Amino acid sequence: MSTIKEVQSWSAEGYARNARFVADLGQPVLELLAPKPGERILDLGCGDGALTARLVRAGAIVVGADASAELVAAARALGLDARIADGQALAFGPEFDAVFSNAALHWMKGADAVIAGVRRALKPGGRFVGEFGGHGNVAAIVTALVAALNARGLDGAARFPWFFPTPAEYAAKLEAQGFRVDSIGLVPRPTPLPTGMRGWLDTFANPFLGGIDDADRAPILDEVQALLAPSLRDQSGNWSADYVRLRFAATLAP
Ligand code: BEZ
Repeated sequence: MSTIKEVQSWSAEGYARNARFVADLGQPVLELLAPKPGERILDLGCGDGALTARLVRAGAIVVGADASAELVAAARALGLDARIADGQALAFGPEFDAVFSNAALHWMKGADAVIAGVRRALKPGGRFVGEFGGHGNVAAIVTALVAALNARGLDGAARFPWFFPTPAEYAAKLEAQGFRVDSIGLVPRPTPLPTGMRGWLDTFANPFLGGIDDADRAPILDEVQALLAPSLRDQSGNWSADYVRLRFAATLAP
């Protein structure tokens, strides 16, 4: 799921192969949203539309928005109303009963601009419900990437592309723009990686590797995996990622 084209490019095929678990694990945040038939819902960072389709099946009238033209095309191929949009400059008026977002908001470093756009898009009393990477998310993976880059004279930390706030930080941002926070908290969720750590890195770690030749990337990724194996690979060789979700529900003042 995407917001800014320069930070990360997406392949619908690679996303489906390496990251299908992202939508598969979306049930808790869908339950928190509790979509009702006939509600108008904006799915912010809809990606290839896997969860958008579940909202439609629940009877909601759903608009998906994502910055990736390739993922929006994949969502449209499912028959969904999906539109290319920058999540940090949403241009919707007050037409939605709820804005929903799964695994996308951590790509949008301009969180205040995102929340402002969500506020504009909601009817008074509308809900903003989402889940994304929270404080400490993929901490081991980030540490290994930064270490492998620093070892080559690069500034790994300067390439960190994500927004992983604490609940207190994100709640303050929501409240500053007129939302009541109904629930918010971190949910540690070690997540099995069906295509291994290499599949995850190939799908998500591009922002750390910009400007590095393909030939030079391979040893970096080998080193990252070697650093991570003791903590994120089990004795059978199965990899997991050290995900920590920030899950929240907020309501716009009526
Ligand atoms: C996440 O869903 O938490 C995530 C996915 C890719 C990169 C970083 C975080």
